[in-house]
Amino acid sequence: RQPVDSPLYALLSAASDYYRNALKNHPQRHTAVSYLKDRGVSGVIARDFALGFAPPGWDHLSKHLSGDSMQQKALIDAGLVVENADSKRRYDRFRDRIMFPIHDTRGRIIGFGGRVLGDDKPKYLNSPETAVFHKGQELYGLYEARKYNRQLNEIIVVEGYMDVIALAQQGLRNAVATLGTATSEEHIKRLFRVVPNILFCFDGDNAGRKAAWRALESTLSNLKDGYQARFLFVPDGEDPDSLIRSEGLEAFQARINQHSVALTEYFFTHLAEEINLDSLEGKAHLATLATPLIERIPGANLRALMRQKLTQLTGLTSAPNDNFTPEHSNTTSHDWAPEYN
Ligand code: GTP
Ligand code: MN
Ligand code: MN
Ligand code: MN
Ligand code: MN
Repeated sequence: RQPVDSPLYALLSAASDYYRNALKNHPQRHTAVSYLKDRGVSGVIARDFALGFAPPGWDHLSKHLSGDSMQQKALIDAGLVVENADSKRRYDRFRDRIMFPIHDTRGRIIGFGGRVLGDDKPKYLNSPETAVFHKGQELYGLYEARKYNRQLNEIIVVEGYMDVIALAQQGLRNAVATLGTATSEEHIKRLFRVVPNILFCFDGDNAGRKAAWRALESTLSNLKDGYQARFLFVPDGEDPDSLIRSEGLEAFQARINQHSVALTEYFFTHLAEEINLDSLEGKAHLATLATPLIERIPGANLRALMRQKLTQLTGLTSAPNDNFTPEHSNTTSHDWAPEYN
């Protein structure tokens, strides 16, 4: 799917070397170093995730990597340099930011995320779509997690770069983040190729709760028997980074053990949230919402159990369409309606 020998890989790797080196040696690195320290990031984690620093200024990187005009063009293709459409002026895309290199599963750098050091906007800047970078499929931290442990059993999916970093800092080296996009079916396919268990842990805000339901929808069609997903909902105003930093690893793990909910449980509580299940109308409504989603589950056992659960909640014992509209039926077995044949 990706060009195996794209010249962009070497350029992106050289850029990462530059950013990493700048975090160690650039005269203006101190704000970046203290920013990372303030957020609890150690030298070990900075090294393991190859964190870097894009210094302030318009052309540090392009000067460092400058070669012929071919190279200049390649820097644009790699998303590292931006060319103004009108003035044709060129400048470094990432300036005065903490740099998070994004690896593919083979360990090649395919893009970057960059965070401002203060409150400027945008808070995060990602590489644009390029020949080697496709945001909707990639997972930040997956390469690092697998490198750290080849026998992963579970992966934690979080929203942000810093959530991945903070969990790793506390010893949870199995977190990955989507790159500011919703969790896609492609993401889930990738994860289930590597582990049988996924734990989703999004921010305790409306965006995070929306992201959770969206992740559930993307997961359903990948739920073969033997695979499972759980959800940990964090308190309002928290995210995995802030939470694990304030309560520590043990409390966070206890929280996962005691308060994470199975996808199947979240499924029914969420769908029934605003439905009155004491009324037939409510039961019909729940069945209407749940049935098409349940039918997406490829695991025959789980699908059957979900239908059973729906029956418990609604009293419906069979699919409502089973014996409906005989006038459109092709069957000849209904001898009470022979006029239709
Ligand atoms: P911190 O403030 O560094 O802790 O960031 P966060 O990860 O907690 O931020 P937030 O919960 O707001 O966003 C989650 C993720 O969405 C980030 O890690 C980014 O991947 C993405 N994101 C957030 N803000 C922006 C933005 O301004 N632009 C883009 N492109 N992505 C963003
Ligand atoms: Mn958020
Ligand atoms: Mn946000
Ligand atoms: Mn967040
Ligand atoms: Mn955060």
